[in-house]
Amino acid sequence: MTASHPHRLHTVTREQIEQLADLLIDCVEGGASVSFMLPLSRERAIAFWDQVARGVAANHRALLIAEDAHGICGTVQLILDQPDNQPHRADLAKMLVHRRARRQGLGAALMRAAEQVARECGKTLLVLDAVTDGDAARLYERLGWVRVGVIPRYALMPRGEPCATTYYYRDLAADGAVGDEHAR
Ligand SMILES: CC(C)(COP(=O)(O)OP(=O)(O)OC[C@H]1O[C@@H](n2cnc3c(N)ncnc32)[C@H](O)[C@@H]1OP(=O)(O)O)[C@@H](O)C(=O)NCCC(=O)NCCS
Repeated sequence: MTASHPHRLHTVTREQIEQLADLLIDCVEGGASVSFMLPLSRERAIAFWDQVARGVAANHRALLIAEDAHGICGTVQLILDQPDNQPHRADLAKMLVHRRARRQGLGAALMRAAEQVARECGKTLLVLDAVTDGDAARLYERLGWVRVGVIPRYALMPRGEPCATTYYYRDLAADGAVGDEHAR
């Protein structure tokens, strides 16, 4: 893996916002269903990361990144701000690896790092959703995330076709958590 080890950002600079926008646009243009439709303007992508940066500053979100020689090539977030009766839970969101950096173990490294940050934040239950049977779903299942169920027609792919979504959870308090073969 040529990318740096994923690390958490506690503040997000303008340059990092620009690079995160590049990453988001690359993923959406590559067909990823991550909340946005095509065409995704740079202005909209920047606005999204500006909002994330505010959440990071407020400690409502944990933002992790990994970098290579070209800049930020991978990211993932934990949404830490949850209802009063779910203080032990976080949502994992916006897992993005640039197409130039895929299939080298960075996705798995980001997930492991996010789980570690979650533990450090006192979070023991993580929840996420992913396009059913997609690349990300395969990654999460390999890492031991538990498949809850499938919701048909949940979202649209960037070009407009409907897709099913699968919900997963990861109980960090449980023993015998499954690892990733590439990490060992
Ligand atoms: C899903 C995503 C994050 C995976 O990132 P990634 O960095 O490619 O993930 P990994 O490298 O850890 O694993 C991907 C594959 O490469 C393989 N791989 C990992 N390291 C490898 C290595 N050193 N040599 C060969 N293969 C390797 C894995 O086994 C896995 O194979 P599989 O897809 O056949 O199961 C990435 O495809 C992505 O950003 N997609 C677009 C955005 C998206 O959909 N995000 C998810 C939102 S829920």
